[in-house]
Amino acid sequence: MTAQGRDVNGSDDPPGRTAQDPFSRYARRFGRPIETVPQMLRGTDAVPAAVASALGLPAAAVEGPSSFFADFAAPRGTRHVRVCGAAACFAASAGRHLGEVAAALGAVPGTVSVNDGGASVQEVRCLGYCYSGPAALEGDRPCAGGDLADQLLGRAPRQDPVAEVQCRSRVPVVTAGIVGGEQPWQAWPRIAASGTSRDVLAEIGASRLRGRGGAGFSTVRKWQAALAYPGPRVVVANGDEGDPGSYVDRLLMERDPHRLLEGLAIACFTVGAAEGIVFVRSEYPHAAAEVRRAVAEAEAAGQLGADVYGSGIDLRIRVAEGAGSYVSGEETALLNGLEGLRGVVRPRPPYPAERGLFGRPTVVNNVETLAAVPWILQHGGEAYAGLGARGETGTVVVCLSERFGRPGAYEVEPGLPIRRVVEEFGGGLRDGATLRALQVGGPLGGFLGPEELDLPLSEAALAEHGAALGHAGMVAFDQRLTGEQVLGNLWAFAEAESCGQCSPCRVGTRLGRMLASGPGAPGPAERRSRVLDTMAEASLCAFGRRVPAAVRSLARVYGLAGWS
Ligand SMILES: Cc1cc2nc3c(=O)[nH]c(=O)nc-3n(C[C@H](O)[C@H](O)[C@H](O)COP(=O)(O)O)c2cc1C
Ligand code: SF4
Ligand code: FES
Repeated sequence: MTAQGRDVNGSDDPPGRTAQDPFSRYARRFGRPIETVPQMLRGTDAVPAAVASALGLPAAAVEGPSSFFADFAAPRGTRHVRVCGAAACFAASAGRHLGEVAAALGAVPGTVSVNDGGASVQEVRCLGYCYSGPAALEGDRPCAGGDLADQLLGRAPRQDPVAEVQCRSRVPVVTAGIVGGEQPWQAWPRIAASGTSRDVLAEIGASRLRGRGGAGFSTVRKWQAALAYPGPRVVVANGDEGDPGSYVDRLLMERDPHRLLEGLAIACFTVGAAEGIVFVRSEYPHAAAEVRRAVAEAEAAGQLGADVYGSGIDLRIRVAEGAGSYVSGEETALLNGLEGLRGVVRPRPPYPAERGLFGRPTVVNNVETLAAVPWILQHGGEAYAGLGARGETGTVVVCLSERFGRPGAYEVEPGLPIRRVVEEFGGGLRDGATLRALQVGGPLGGFLGPEELDLPLSEAALAEHGAALGHAGMVAFDQRLTGEQVLGNLWAFAEAESCGQCSPCRVGTRLGRMLASGPGAPGPAERRSRVLDTMAEASLCAFGRRVPAAVRSLARVYGLAGWS
């Protein structure tokens, strides 16, 4: 960002790369664009050795990401179908759809069909259609519903259901555009033309906005932390949204992408970043296309680009796509992926605010967090702080899964009883089914039993119950599934998605899955507790540290012995 007497910039040094990473050092020394590796691997005929040779990189620099990311590692036929096997789709079909799709296409997940060599099935974990699962993507074409296999075979019409979005807070904030008709780009022109970083920080501070990506970190503190280190800086909007059961980021990116871009522009301005990046998971191809379209429109309208509103500010926003990895939503793993490396978690410190993307001070914020920023700047931080509960201000969008009578995304204020969300907004369960367990906050959240729904919807209350609000997805499980089945699905997710960077999680998730469902199950209780304790205490990131809490809460709700 070019600053003209404004408190928005750092130095003009070229971007550095993380000093400890050998491939980055190599790439910098020889001027090789290692960050283009994922783009090149995306080509259907891309062979890692050929990509390495074309870029002049060591073979290992390309083998790393190509074997790590599911999209590159999965075998592909000419007809490639990604089928969701995660919690909400599993709950929708009691797990049957994976077998049905595989049988219909003649290919078991992870293979190309032998019949005609053409079809391949890849099991993925969440496609953002949790409200109408089970779901699949054929190429980039979605379909969802109980007759998924018939849809894929052309025996039933393809369904691409649209999610219901409702505002149940006093005023719509992040859904202001979708349900409130409020136009985006209302706050930005004034801020760009005559605002200061200090003014914006004062409003965000007054709002007490906390990150919606799961960790609940204070947004103003994160932005201030990045400002403490010399630039150039960068802001990344995290649209990885891996939690099965959550789809609000997808809805925001698809239906109101300009609000996200405005929030991102304001964040860039405030921390003095000339570059913003929207990172979109590859399971959301439509969202990536909509955000790209919105960036072009915003550039054409003069909201982004050179000398915005005659302010001397140059601001560019680009879109980057993931390649199939849950842990790549963790901010340091995300940065590795953007640098063209394997999407594994980096040890912290240093935190991204100090040394993030290519060594630059970096702010990573969730899409829903950034989508709240324009409203706060337009209506005032105090107005936002007046919503919600003490200590947990504003609004949160809760996503309800397919098993509910009225699945959809509901913007609510923290503090209301969870029972209201489940029974009044969600309409209880569909088809007269009985709620057996409610998963809140995805695989790093926790489970509640039907008698625990009077708890307030808040981080603090859920934490006391060994759960977490996370990204506020809610997956309902009915009486058709046993606790063992739900536990098996959770461990399968954990084993498949562990990034493998640290052994307590890499080995622990495998042992956990085996002890839950493999040979020798259920296994001695003492061994199961030891696996959970080791993961919780010694894992490098919140994935390995939080999965044990989710397992323990599930075992409590279903009365499964030996997982305490
Ligand atoms: C395993 C793991 C996966 C995560 N996935 C996401 C994700 O998909 N989207 C997201 O915004 N944050 C995710 N996070 C949290 C990010 O690391 C980070 O805290 C967040 O993007 C910061 O934005 P916020 O402060 O606005 O919440 C994940 C964290 C972990 C440990
Ligand atoms: S806890 Fe799991 S996901 Fe996190 S760094 Fe370790 S292996 Fe990777
Ligand atoms: S689409 Fe299957 S869990 Fe989200």
